[in-house]
Amino acid sequence: MDVYGLLGNPVGHSLSPPMHEAGYEKLDIDARYVTFEPPVERGADAVESAAMLGVSGLNVTIPFKQDVLDAVEPDDTAARIGAVNTIDFSTDPPTGHNTDAAGVVRALEHHGVSLDGRAVLVGAGGAGRAVAFALAGEGMAVDIANRTVEKAVDLAADVTESVVDGSASGHALDELSDLLADADVLVNATSVGMEEDRSAVPRDGLHADLAVLDAVYSPIETRLLRDAADAGARTVDGAWMLLYQGVEAFERWTGHRAPVAAMNDALRSSLET
Ligand code: ATR
Repeated sequence: MDVYGLLGNPVGHSLSPPMHEAGYEKLDIDARYVTFEPPVERGADAVESAAMLGVSGLNVTIPFKQDVLDAVEPDDTAARIGAVNTIDFSTDPPTGHNTDAAGVVRALEHHGVSLDGRAVLVGAGGAGRAVAFALAGEGMAVDIANRTVEKAVDLAADVTESVVDGSASGHALDELSDLLADADVLVNATSVGMEEDRSAVPRDGLHADLAVLDAVYSPIETRLLRDAADAGARTVDGAWMLLYQGVEAFERWTGHRAPVAAMNDALRSSLET
């Protein structure tokens, strides 16, 4: 039996175990997915322990996504983003990947959103970094707006330096309405809206030519997504991004095409409970 898991602290309410185990069940793979919660300062040690114990793969979440970089061989995407959310132990040393980046692309593609033109990204934290590299990597021009403007400017510089086709620029939140006028895609990667009825994006900037993805999935229908739907925009909820970062990890670990519908059903029923 293969053991996969999630490394985080806290990990109590994770939706990853039912999502991945639904995939194993559907494909008849003999595997389990469990959660590990080491002390916050022991993330890299936990990766070494997992390797020793024969764990096949780990997802990594807050607060360990940066800490585990030293314990793995990061691929180019993870190194650029500066964060690892998936570790593959089939190699020595284990390799580190960032499936949040591919996850946002696949979530948008699933909804038929074309990834050319302009994107507005709100947020320049950990999730924001993954989204910025992913969308610019698809060739989009990405305007990044963040409460702390310097972080948006720094992230835009990092993206511009390493991405071939796309580009990025950093902005303040009060520029959002102007930035959105020309945008095709909007992604919220801030925590605004999580367990609260607030949006980081002014309603008057939203319009019918936008596709709007909110990385927040609790609640599943955020204030931003309601405002976007009212404005006639296409909406993609945060569970799709969560699903596809998991699908990417599943496929890397097992070598099988993931049963996306089964994993999505399990994820959505866990979200409801
Ligand atoms: P994550 O890993 O989920 O991205 P993070 O790295 O702590 O978490 O980043 C949180 C993001 O939400 C940041 O972009 C943060 O803005 P700052 O960089 O200015 O801190 C943004 N954020 C959090 N609370 C916010 C608020 N009340 N208004 C606007 N942005 C907020």
